[in-house]
Amino acid sequence: MTTAILSALPEEQGGLVHALQAAERIDHAGRTFWRGRLCGHDVVLALCGIGKVAAATTATSLAERFAVRRMVFTGVAGGVGEGVQVGDVVVASEYLQHDMDASPLFPRWEVPGQGSALMACDGPLSAILMRAAGAYLERSGGQFDQYLPAAHAPRLHQGLIASGDQFISTAAASQRLRGDLLAAGHDVLAVEMEGAAVLQVCRDYQLPFAAVRTISDRADDSAHVDFPRFVEQVARRYADGVVRELLGQ
Ligand code: ADE
Repeated sequence: MTTAILSALPEEQGGLVHALQAAERIDHAGRTFWRGRLCGHDVVLALCGIGKVAAATTATSLAERFAVRRMVFTGVAGGVGEGVQVGDVVVASEYLQHDMDASPLFPRWEVPGQGSALMACDGPLSAILMRAAGAYLERSGGQFDQYLPAAHAPRLHQGLIASGDQFISTAAASQRLRGDLLAAGHDVLAVEMEGAAVLQVCRDYQLPFAAVRTISDRADDSAHVDFPRFVEQVARRYADGVVRELLGQ
C-alpha cells in the first residue's frame, strides 16, 4: 500500500527525501514527486506549493498517476483556537473551506454538492497520526524551547482546521474568522491553505486522508514575522520526526 506524504513547502517536507531508499524522482504536471521506501513503507513524497488549487492538482496526480492508497499532509498552520500556541501540533479531525461562500444558494462554507460545510478526515489514519505526533512531542521535549513562547511546553490538539486561499495576518481577521465560525457552532483550531482541498480530492477518490500541522504563528499581526522564522528553524525537524513516527507505528 503506497502512502502519499504531501507538504506545501520544502521545509515542511524536512529531510524525508534524503532518507528515502530506492528513491526515484518523477517530474509531472509542474511538480516533483519522489517515489521510494521509507521506514519499510512504499511512499510518494510530493510538494504541492501554496494554495488550494495547487494542492488539489497534486492530490489528483497522486491518485491518478501514482495510485496511492492513502494521503497524509504534513505542514504548518496559524493557530486561531484558544490555547493553540506556536510549537503546538494539531491533527485535523475535520476540515472546512473558510473562503467558500455560495450563499444564499448553499449555506456559507458548504462546498456545493458535499452536503455539509464540514468534511471529516479518516478516523483510523488520524488516530495513528495522533499517536505519532504525541510520541514525537514526548521524544523531542525541550528541544525547540528557544523558538517557542516562554514557558510553553508544546501541546497536541485534535479538531477542526479551516483552509482558504488567504494568509491570515491580522488579529482582527483571525478573530473575525474564529467568531463567525463559533457562531455557527464550529470551534476552529487552526488555519492553513491546502488541507481541505486535498481532503475533497480524497473524498472523490475514496482515499483515506489525515493531516498534521505544527503551529508556526498565531495568525495575528506578527504572523508575517513568526511564520518564516518558524518554517526556517523548526518545521523541518517536526516533519521528519512525526512522519517517521507515523510510518514506524
Ligand atoms: N499557514 C501558516 N500560518 C498561516 C496563516 N497565518 N494563515 C494561513 N495559512 C497559514
